Amino acid sequence: MFRVLHRWAGVVAAILLVIVSLTGFILSIFPLITADRTADRLDAGSLIVAVQDTLPGVQQINVNDNGVVTATAFGADGLQQIVVDAATGASLGPVTTSGLELWFENLHRNLFLSDTGQLAVLIASVAMVALTISGLALAARRLGGWRKLLSRDHGNGAGGLHLKVARIAAVGLIISSLTGVWMGLATLGVVPDPSPLADMPTVSVEAALPANELAALTSIDGAELRSITLPVEGLLGQAYEVETDAGAGFVDPATGEMLTWADRSGWSQVMDVVHLLHTGQGASLLGLILGLMSLAVPVLSGSGLLVWLAGRGKTIKVANAAAASADVIVLVGSEGGSTWRFANAFARSVQNAGLTARLAPMNDFAPTTYHAAKSIVVFAATYGDGDAPESAKDFIAKLAAAEALKVPLSVLGFGDSSYPEFCGFADEVAREAQAKGWSLLIETGKIDRQSTGEFSNWGFAYAAASGIDLGDVATALERPEMAELTLVSKSIYGEGAQAPTAVLRFAMPKVSLMDRLLGRNFAKFQAGDLLNIIPDGSDSPRSYSLASGTKDGFVEICVRKVPGGLASAQLCSMERGDKLLAYVTPNAHFHAPKDASSLVLIGAGAGIGSLAGVVRGNRRKRPAHLFFGMRSRSGGLPYEAEFEEWQGDGRLSELTIALSRSETPRYVQQALMEEAAKLRKLVQQGAHFMICGGRDMGDGVRAALEEIIAPLGMSVNQLEKEGRYAVDVF
Ligand SMILES: Cc1cc2nc3c(=O)[nH]c(=O)nc-3n(C[C@H](O)[C@H](O)[C@H](O)COP(=O)(O)O)c2cc1C
Repeated sequence: MFRVLHRWAGVVAAILLVIVSLTGFILSIFPLITADRTADRLDAGSLIVAVQDTLPGVQQINVNDNGVVTATAFGADGLQQIVVDAATGASLGPVTTSGLELWFENLHRNLFLSDTGQLAVLIASVAMVALTISGLALAARRLGGWRKLLSRDHGNGAGGLHLKVARIAAVGLIISSLTGVWMGLATLGVVPDPSPLADMPTVSVEAALPANELAALTSIDGAELRSITLPVEGLLGQAYEVETDAGAGFVDPATGEMLTWADRSGWSQVMDVVHLLHTGQGASLLGLILGLMSLAVPVLSGSGLLVWLAGRGKTIKVANAAAASADVIVLVGSEGGSTWRFANAFARSVQNAGLTARLAPMNDFAPTTYHAAKSIVVFAATYGDGDAPESAKDFIAKLAAAEALKVPLSVLGFGDSSYPEFCGFADEVAREAQAKGWSLLIETGKIDRQSTGEFSNWGFAYAAASGIDLGDVATALERPEMAELTLVSKSIYGEGAQAPTAVLRFAMPKVSLMDRLLGRNFAKFQAGDLLNIIPDGSDSPRSYSLASGTKDGFVEICVRKVPGGLASAQLCSMERGDKLLAYVTPNAHFHAPKDASSLVLIGAGAGIGSLAGVVRGNRRKRPAHLFFGMRSRSGGLPYEAEFEEWQGDGRLSELTIALSRSETPRYVQQALMEEAAKLRKLVQQGAHFMICGGRDMGDGVRAALEEIIAPLGMSVNQLEKEGRYAVDVF
């Protein structure tokens, strides 16, 4: 409900809201420029006398919300209006209303459309209230409850910006929009705007005294004064009409007595507060803060639109069989849309295997209609604190109400291991299903940050258990748009040692506007993310760890030429100026964490690329020890010159090289064992491990570290659970 309300209120009101918020911001600046901050103000009686000297025949004195005093007289020359010094009563010149301010005021209040415009602005304000409240409810749900509303958020791109800006501006937007609704209703007469003034009382007919001798007037502090209407000169029986912050009354010009007095009612005090909160008149700084917050509206409209556009069309992209005839039912619980990409790839693989598949949101779970199903697969993302995403929130209730089918169920969770409840909703689905008597085909799979490798492993496990020959499901993932990369440099190492390895550097490609706005593809990547290419002669992508990030200004990979390898041969034979089509996919589990913990980087062969990229990006110069294994130095050491530079400037604290074909041969895991004491200390201090290279090296390093940290009573598993052990092996 909140999502629908949020989306439609946003779409309907977006343009109006942008106009109203921008003009609101501009109007919030005027009080700051025009406010009169005179501290020593004359009391009402003295002010009248001083102004009478300056402007004989004065009939009215007004003090506006910003403290500016004006005096009005009607004489032979017609209407005269001057601005008055609040401390002396001297003239500061004629009143000139700012045409610009009036122009913005008219646009802000009624879009120059009088009554119709007023109504439109009122509707926009109501939409703004609805948007802010529904937006906060959505954010609270995504983040796991109202108390988590201020917690660190994990979104990137337009979605992340939308959430960040909204959380900063929400209070201001609620105040401005609620008070806007109130003022709109007051302007239309729906909310009464009472004046405190009572009827004119009977006044004595004795001769008037100078105003500064009238006690009721001299006792009114200039800072409280709002207006004075003077008795018409020479006319007996007239009183001074005064209005202050506290109320209004009539003062006898002969006796100086307050004849009647009416306190400002509670209602009109509420009106004053609403007026102050909305216009900032009288509290210019608050007005400016609220005005600045209203600038969030164009940002929220733009980013909201982008999120909506990016989320559209992400759902079903395969020929979808009917629920009653499908062999495999694929149910998807997704909020941001990324899980659909995996579900589509899975359905595509099922179809390639000669079966039919039915893709649907988890909320559409209807087991009584699955007449032909042989397998039901649930792809479930997790939000908040282990909660269901929007498209799956009805699932558990539907499951509880359903009879278990004989058809086995498989659950694949999509989540982020940096959350305490990693894939918590997928676990809940599996638990509830089992409790209802459904049998699970395989253990619940968990995909961390959309890892392609983990998806591919789960696909093999599913295929083995179900007997459906799926091949590698990851190859069926729809590719993002490809960009053209141009090779700018190539260095080859290790040719003598039968392990030629090339460091290839490409110029940063052009990024589409949509990718840039959403922070996707080449718009934003880090060392450790993946560069995907499709070699000639194959249609499945190959992925290489990136050795650079966007901040470096180029795209770099390190490629080992594998005997008989299609992609590596094509890459290694590229020459300067050659072009390549590629796209980037994030590999968030292999990024250096943002905290200041020291890094232990361990790699061999081409694995050096992403680790060198991490060191290059270590601009904050946290301690980083790199262990690197290679056959021999005879064919040169990749990144040799850079390593020297980075050791010099503090980005790399130590470099240990293990050569497996030298006079003193050793593998990288042996180098680790030799530094066991140091590594134990680093582990105790919270170090973070990143391991990149061949699978065997990965296993060897794991076993060595297991041995090294055993005396601490710790295990690599534990480090992994704490997010301190990241592996990228190939
Ligand atoms: C606000 C927010 C909260 C999240 N909470 C969790 C969580 O509690 N547990 C988890 O494993 N993943 C969590 N995630 C990660 C998502 O589940 C993960 O990115 C998933 O791949 C998103 O899939 P979708 O794009 O299909 O919605 C959260 C993501 C966001 C943006």
